[in-house]
Amino acid sequence: MCGIVGYTGRGPALPVLLSGLHRMEYRGYDSAGVALLPAGGGAPQVRRAVGKVAALETAISESPVDASAPLGIGHTRWATHGAPSERNAHPHLSRDGSIALVHNGIIDNFLALRERLVSQGFVFRSETDSEALAHLVEACRADTLLESVRRALSFVSGTYGIAVAASWAPGQIVVARKGSPIAIAAADGVACVASDAAALAGRADSVAYLDDGDIALLVPGGFEVRSIEALSPVVRPAAPLDFAPDAIEKGGYEHFMRKEIAEQPEALENCLRGRLVDEDGTAKLSGLRMEPRDIAALQSVVVTACGTSYYAGLHGTYAFEQFSGIPSRIEQAAEFRYRNPIVAPETALVSLSQSGETADTLAAVREAKRKGALVLSVCNVVGSTIAREAGRGVYLHAGPEIGVASTKAFLCQVAVLSMMALLFGRTRRLSCQEGRTIVGALKALPDLVRAALAQEDAIVRIAEKFAGARDAFFIGRGWQYPAALEGALKLKEISYLHAEGYHAAELKHGPIALLDEHVPVVALSPLGPGHDKMLGNIQECRARKAPVIAIATEGDSSVDAFTEDVIRVPQCPDFTAAVPVVVVEQLFAYHVARLRGEPIDQPRNLAKSVTVE
Ligand code: G6P
Repeated sequence: MCGIVGYTGRGPALPVLLSGLHRMEYRGYDSAGVALLPAGGGAPQVRRAVGKVAALETAISESPVDASAPLGIGHTRWATHGAPSERNAHPHLSRDGSIALVHNGIIDNFLALRERLVSQGFVFRSETDSEALAHLVEACRADTLLESVRRALSFVSGTYGIAVAASWAPGQIVVARKGSPIAIAAADGVACVASDAAALAGRADSVAYLDDGDIALLVPGGFEVRSIEALSPVVRPAAPLDFAPDAIEKGGYEHFMRKEIAEQPEALENCLRGRLVDEDGTAKLSGLRMEPRDIAALQSVVVTACGTSYYAGLHGTYAFEQFSGIPSRIEQAAEFRYRNPIVAPETALVSLSQSGETADTLAAVREAKRKGALVLSVCNVVGSTIAREAGRGVYLHAGPEIGVASTKAFLCQVAVLSMMALLFGRTRRLSCQEGRTIVGALKALPDLVRAALAQEDAIVRIAEKFAGARDAFFIGRGWQYPAALEGALKLKEISYLHAEGYHAAELKHGPIALLDEHVPVVALSPLGPGHDKMLGNIQECRARKAPVIAIATEGDSSVDAFTEDVIRVPQCPDFTAAVPVVVVEQLFAYHVARLRGEPIDQPRNLAKSVTVE
């Protein structure tokens, strides 16, 4: 997501900041900025630009800064609050202009902080949560910058990695971490910080990583780390810093897709953070701007999307019906827009799009608005066209997704739709206890993903066995049916293997004619309603000699009689079981494609954002 870099030393900071920002470009971002603090005091000079670091370099050449300034902080932003724009880019300045701050993470109590700061006369120039931190440090100003930042953070809930500099604290950068990584390094006469150690490669031989709850002061040639709570000194051991250029690009992974698969637990944590209310057994989704009476008046939910988003949407319709009892259906956006659909003011039209730019999904949003539906968007890219035109909705906070085959966006879409269904359900028919059970299950999603990721060795072995196949089927029932469709799509997209997702019961109405010993069937068979029926469907496949790859629940041996190729996922309620199953499918598709030597991140004929009909 966002990237932080900072430098304090004797030489000029600007080249260090710019090269650090370039090194973090692989993370994906939409704007960039720097603040430079001249030697001997003087206000921070800020330059920011929308687009690439190159655009920032152009902005600096058109409006030069003090190129000899020995201290500076820089940032690449990936929007979470407020669209990508120059004024929303970091660094942010405090009201008096003396403090510059860059922030990664999400401030949960940002609205409350903002209200309080506004009542104290602070004027906000951006729509970001991060700007509140800059003002808060000014409001909490103490004798030292370290103490000012520490006091400010005591009012903050949420996640942060921050770097702060002030004209009245020459030579100093204060950094702190809670949930967002911060690496620091010191060498002869300089000290540096970055959110991503790759940005510091070549600047130091080793780095120290802050832990959550750490705050550190950087001065030329050294740093000291303390605990934010007690201010007591803590020691963070230094780790060697040796990055190959390619590893810097992809954060150590061979492909962006693999990196994004690995990021899913964290993406889900970011997506769920601050949105689940344990006590009331419900979800808080303020971007929907719906009062209980609006939810109570809903007669139907129509979900519309394309591609992977469509399959996440299909899973969502099950959640809307099961949790909230509202009739719900999914429509392909391209069908919806041309079919003259029946929508009413009591219809919520939920449009799902990772990019927020898919042409058919956007057209469906416009058609639904014309027909008077209540349009809600679920997008990953903040400020994207669909999010703006819908005017209300929920962001995924999945972080930038660069691999063409969508992975972490899918899981976060499932999580967001589950939270919406829970909110609607708690407003209508779910008891507090039922709501709490769902909250608990949703909170466990990141761990379910971690458990599925831990199966990678077993998945690789099975991928090696079947990488030479020409056709494959994915079958599932109930909540596993959308997962079957998604598994087949993933395999098609990146391995170019012909794969079809089918409802397990439908297989016998046609496709079973295609099965033989050369056509593997991936049977999604975790425990849950319909499991016995699924075992019957597996037998039907085996009777046609089709090899079966089963994805089954840990400790359940019922599939073992039919196949030795079993991948285990943890036990969990049926409404979350598709999440670890899809992670297994992602890894399976990834490894099959890798073994076949296909270009995983940019498969032939596919585009990340499809802006044509
Ligand atoms: C393209 C991408 C898919 C994506 C689909 C919908 O086909 O290759 O990965 O699922 O578009 O994209 P959206 O941004 O609307 O979710």
